[in-house]
Amino acid sequence: MPAKLIDGTAIGDKLRAELQVEIRALRARGVTPGLAAVLVGDNAASATYVRMKGKACDEAGLYHETIRLAKETTEAELLALVERLNADHKIHGILVQLPLPTQISTQRILHRVAPEKDVDGFHPENVGRVSIGDPAAFRPATPFGVQQLLLRSDVDISGKHAVIVGRSTIVGRPMAALLLQDGPGGNATVTICHSRTRDIKSVTRLADILIVAIGKPEFVTGDMIKPGAVVIDVGVNRVEDPSLKKGYRLVGDVNFEEAKKVAGALTPVPGGVGPMTITMLLYNTVQAARQWTQP
Ligand code: GUN
Repeated sequence: MPAKLIDGTAIGDKLRAELQVEIRALRARGVTPGLAAVLVGDNAASATYVRMKGKACDEAGLYHETIRLAKETTEAELLALVERLNADHKIHGILVQLPLPTQISTQRILHRVAPEKDVDGFHPENVGRVSIGDPAAFRPATPFGVQQLLLRSDVDISGKHAVIVGRSTIVGRPMAALLLQDGPGGNATVTICHSRTRDIKSVTRLADILIVAIGKPEFVTGDMIKPGAVVIDVGVNRVEDPSLKKGYRLVGDVNFEEAKKVAGALTPVPGGVGPMTITMLLYNTVQAARQWTQP
């Protein structure tokens, strides 16, 4: 039987509709949650993501500012902008789009974002609080979105073996922290695989829940999946396709056609994790505004 598709667009829309209740309540009290997105340079994928985030804020009735800086921007200039946004009362959440140009230290920038405005969950204070299971910390949007996809698709997580492919600080590591937490959406047995893992297939085949965030087009093939597993594909890769007008198509880190025949449930690319990431960013911005009104 082909895998059930997990529809991130539909689940994201439902979550955004639920979020409207709180957004309206905050606005009725004179607080419009506000997000600042900072884009440095002209990375095409980053520009698309930032545009989509701004559009999502507009649709949700959030205030937003997008600050675009030249690729030659210095670290001092970006630190000064972060300081200004930290002090701006209209802004409850700050997002500095990654990757940054090489002349800027990503760590120094992320450390300067006020932890209470760190809606990406990348400041070490939030990383630490997420790792000890503090529900008031900001959870990074992509793994938070994956956890919501699993919960809202009625995937039983507790006691299951979740294998995460990829150890990035944006997805793999916080994903492990969330699935390990003691409570709803957690209690999994978690394994992380990475580029140095030996015989990766023997590990991925143990997964009841397989989450792939490695940034390699169609890396996971059908023979790497345990029959009936839930497969979450976090990858978004552009591969050349001269037959299309735009010259490329988007594929995930999982070979979709092969996985469909083996998995019990599967996320598509696009339309799986992507819409959830943006939804959870909105969620975190609303959380920031709520916590600002009730510190
Ligand atoms: N680049 C890729 N993913 C992300 C993300 O979730 N947040 C930011 N700020 N940059 C990214």
